[in-house]
Amino acid sequence: MSGVVTLTPAPVLDRTYLVRSLAHGKVNRSYEVHEYMSGKGLNVARTLHVARVPVAGVLPIGRDDEHLLFRTPYPHILRIVPVLGRIRVNTAIVEDGGRTTNVNQSAIPISTADWQRVVDLTIEQLVETDADWMVVSGTHPFDSDTGEYLDMTQLFERTREAGVRVALDTSGVPLERLTRSGLVNLIKPNADELANLVGRNLHTVGDALEAGRELNALGVEVALVSLGADGALAITAEEAYWGAAVAPQLVNTTGAGDATLAGFLADSIADEPRPSGALPRLDLQHALATAVSWGALAVSLPTTLITSIADAPTPIVEIPDAKRELLETTHLVVG
Ligand SMILES: Nc1ncnc2c1ncn2[C@@H]1O[C@H](COP(=O)(O)OP(=O)(O)OP(=O)(O)O)[C@@H](O)[C@H]1O
Ligand SMILES: [Mg+2]
Repeated sequence: MSGVVTLTPAPVLDRTYLVRSLAHGKVNRSYEVHEYMSGKGLNVARTLHVARVPVAGVLPIGRDDEHLLFRTPYPHILRIVPVLGRIRVNTAIVEDGGRTTNVNQSAIPISTADWQRVVDLTIEQLVETDADWMVVSGTHPFDSDTGEYLDMTQLFERTREAGVRVALDTSGVPLERLTRSGLVNLIKPNADELANLVGRNLHTVGDALEAGRELNALGVEVALVSLGADGALAITAEEAYWGAAVAPQLVNTTGAGDATLAGFLADSIADEPRPSGALPRLDLQHALATAVSWGALAVSLPTTLITSIADAPTPIVEIPDAKRELLETTHLVVG
């Protein structure tokens, strides 16, 4: 069975406080706290590992914080590049009913030399895991030497030369630029990210579908658009499906997008050896079904850690109903 390599350029120490309700400007008491190493690529890697997909999760870690690895689930799937400095901290406050407030620390810049080591290790892991996909997830830090966002060009080119697809889940300027690079096979925007990519708000499933098709025209093979409680769309130039699953309960929506991406990838890898050079055929309908099932599972759990996919809810997948109104309106970032 082929595998997946994930890369988390800006991993994080995730701290989650569970509170009954959050009062701004007041002292709040938490009845439960979780703390562990996280990052969107790690979330994807762990969920794939739980689903028995061969996976390696590459991440740079500040030399002062390497000890955190001892407190992290499934450390054997991680591949570490020690870099200068410390890891950042993200705080989530989860209220009864699932409303979540996040305070995220900005990504810490990485030197050009350290980034090159991360790229080299990632490429090496593609061979180790016989990867079909290389996934870059989460915030992109700045390069401390150039002052620009980390340059993904070499990483993406070498990945594609190795016959491996590139998946990208990020936001803002890096998403905008890399979507247009012609080097990305799959992106997983949520509704707001998609709205910002095309520069207009989305009101219906049809609006999201049209926006996804614009991304296909820019060279993105698959737009996997997650729409929160409205499910998700998988869109290629040739076909498009909408899918959803009912979440058993709504506890914490953080990381639902990562579970969605993991689900899609789990059903988009080759079961058997394939002729070299050929990319495995994607079964969009099947992959989307797993994506929305795992997304709905993720929102029913208190943290981003999924420990079993056995009870993931049953999905439905249909031809998109263009007229269907989205429950939540999108927001464009000005500037
Ligand atoms: N309220 C909900 N009920 C059922 N499923 C949900 C709900 N919210 C999210 N999901 C599932 O999770 C998927 C991903 O959610 P969403 O679009 O919010 O991702 P996201 O914004 O990228 O999340 P994150 O970046 O925090 O991982 C949805 O496509 C859907 O399948
Ligand atoms: Mg997301």
